[in-house]
Amino acid sequence: MQGLGQASSVYWFRMTAALLSFLLVAPVLLVTGGPVYDSTNKIVPLVLWHGMGDSCCNPLSMGAIKKMVEKEVPGIYVLSLMIGKNVIEDTENGFFKDVNEQVSMVCDQLAKDPQLKGGYNAMGFSQGAQFLRAVAQRCPSPPIKTLISVGGQHQGVYGLPRCPGESSHICDIIRKALNSGAYSDLVQKHLVQAQYWHDPLNDDLYKKHSLFLADINQERSVNETYKKNLQRLEKFVMVKFLNDTVVDPVVSEWFGFLKTGQAKETETLQESVLYKEDRLGLAAMDKAKKLVFLTSEGDHLQFTKEWFDTNLLPYLR
Ligand SMILES: *[C@@H]1O[C@H](CO)[C@@H](O)[C@H](O)[C@H]1NC(C)=O
Ligand SMILES: *[C@@H]1O[C@H](CO)[C@@H](O)[C@H](O)[C@H]1NC(C)=O
Repeated sequence: MQGLGQASSVYWFRMTAALLSFLLVAPVLLVTGGPVYDSTNKIVPLVLWHGMGDSCCNPLSMGAIKKMVEKEVPGIYVLSLMIGKNVIEDTENGFFKDVNEQVSMVCDQLAKDPQLKGGYNAMGFSQGAQFLRAVAQRCPSPPIKTLISVGGQHQGVYGLPRCPGESSHICDIIRKALNSGAYSDLVQKHLVQAQYWHDPLNDDLYKKHSLFLADINQERSVNETYKKNLQRLEKFVMVKFLNDTVVDPVVSEWFGFLKTGQAKETETLQESVLYKEDRLGLAAMDKAKKLVFLTSEGDHLQFTKEWFDTNLLPYLR
């Protein structure tokens, strides 16, 4: 397979659109006799966590991004996380595996990887972004230097307006489960999207029963360790897609959300209690100019190679 440098924007668009296609039984890019990394390498490694419906290694999505970064940053070690034993399991786990377990599996894997000993940059796509933030907060060693969230939902979602591609039937099932009891322990444990379901009309239920999001967002209590660990990041970059029809509300991609008690008006991160009480250290990070808010025109996870090169690549060099 040729490098991405030769790809046109059109190809890139098709490729990123494929990020949204589901249950990929696409051929996995097989690497025979992988590259040898130099232990004196000063280039910061990169860890990728894919989004819902995608997998570590789809040659049209994460695989292509990995290749492109490897081409643009010669010598870089890029690890695209696979949650489970193979690509099918990885894809299914993005829907059904307890997120807290996923995060702890990833923490173990990263801690054991000799290439990451000196720290790494992390780039999460869609739900993979809030999962990597949990890694930053819970597992400080090895440290994440820069965390890049590409369309992540840091305050969760309240709606699943459009499920892409062939999986719309999966989305119907998910939506039904969420509506009938996102905060029941059973649904919380077994449905990934329930674990970042944020219902502004049932704030008490959310705070009490959300096993993942309410915990990492310090809704129940302030865990000083989370706060300290997150502030160790050099930068926390958040990309919001201006024409996103998948995430609701879109401002969650910048850590904003719906105001509590209603489902229409939104508030920014800076207007939130989380920020005003600085329960997670984000206000301090903002002050220290560690928070970076970027936009990309287009729908969820749709961007051009030019946009990627201009906006994200500088953080990887
Ligand atoms: C705070 O987070 C750390 C890291 O995950 C964890 O070990 C600890 O138990 C948490 N403390 C509380 C009080 O929940
Ligand atoms: C995307 O959204 C922006 C801001 O809301 C708007 O100005 C722009 O026209 C939209 N672009 C497309 C292609 O819909």
